[in-house]
Amino acid sequence: MKYKVYIYKAFERFWHWTQAILIFMLAATGFEIHGSFTFFGYQNAVKYHNVSAYAFIVLIVFAIFWHFSTGEWKQYMPTASNLKAQINYYIFGIFKNAPHPTKKTVLSKLNPLQKLVYLGLKILVIPVMVVSGLLYMFYRYPQKDAVESINIGSLEVVAIVHTIGALLLIAFIITHLYLITTGETVTSNLKAMITGYEELEDEKSSKEN
Ligand code: HEM
Repeated sequence: MKYKVYIYKAFERFWHWTQAILIFMLAATGFEIHGSFTFFGYQNAVKYHNVSAYAFIVLIVFAIFWHFSTGEWKQYMPTASNLKAQINYYIFGIFKNAPHPTKKTVLSKLNPLQKLVYLGLKILVIPVMVVSGLLYMFYRYPQKDAVESINIGSLEVVAIVHTIGALLLIAFIITHLYLITTGETVTSNLKAMITGYEELEDEKSSKEN
């Protein structure tokens, strides 16, 4: 039996959409700085990139607090169980109308592939972007009297790491936008992240997952 479940809480939705807007702004302004196109004008792009970056860091601090104070961080612990079935589903099953291999519940709302990819973003890609971005911002410091060993002589490595991270994030976003449409209906995942509610199977019939 299906019933409506409150699956994404208010802060979680606020965090998700604010993060989406900020990463979109950071990607757009970042690639203008990179020289890929002209839209805001270079100087504005730098200004907007910096403001979005600071806002992103503030959001990350609140999100870390939320994940630990609610225990929601546990949702992201990777598991090998069902991982292969989930990958097979996206490669083959989905095109044959096979059932979703992982049933969503409030206590376990991410499938094993999501757990793995989201954890990778949280502990690897986003920290790399923040650290390389901050080094990019402050590379001229410390100046004369400061500790020599943390002075960066060249920006080359920082720029390459930051750009690779940006490309990875864009690859993630493209995949994410496609996967959003592969829920129970084309719009059910999107609606859930907007309203917080989603129709799920009852916990008993999804216990085996
Ligand atoms: C808190 C996070 C971030 C900080 C502090 C940050 C900071 C910076 C800074 C200071 C620059 C150099 C601007 C200049 O040359 O004047 C830069 C460049 C850039 N940023 Fe970020 N950024 C962050 C996140 C992101 C994200 C999430 C993306 C993409 C999704 C991104 C994409 C880029 C790109 C593509 C460049 C140009 C790199 C190059 O051509 O060398 N940044 N960033």
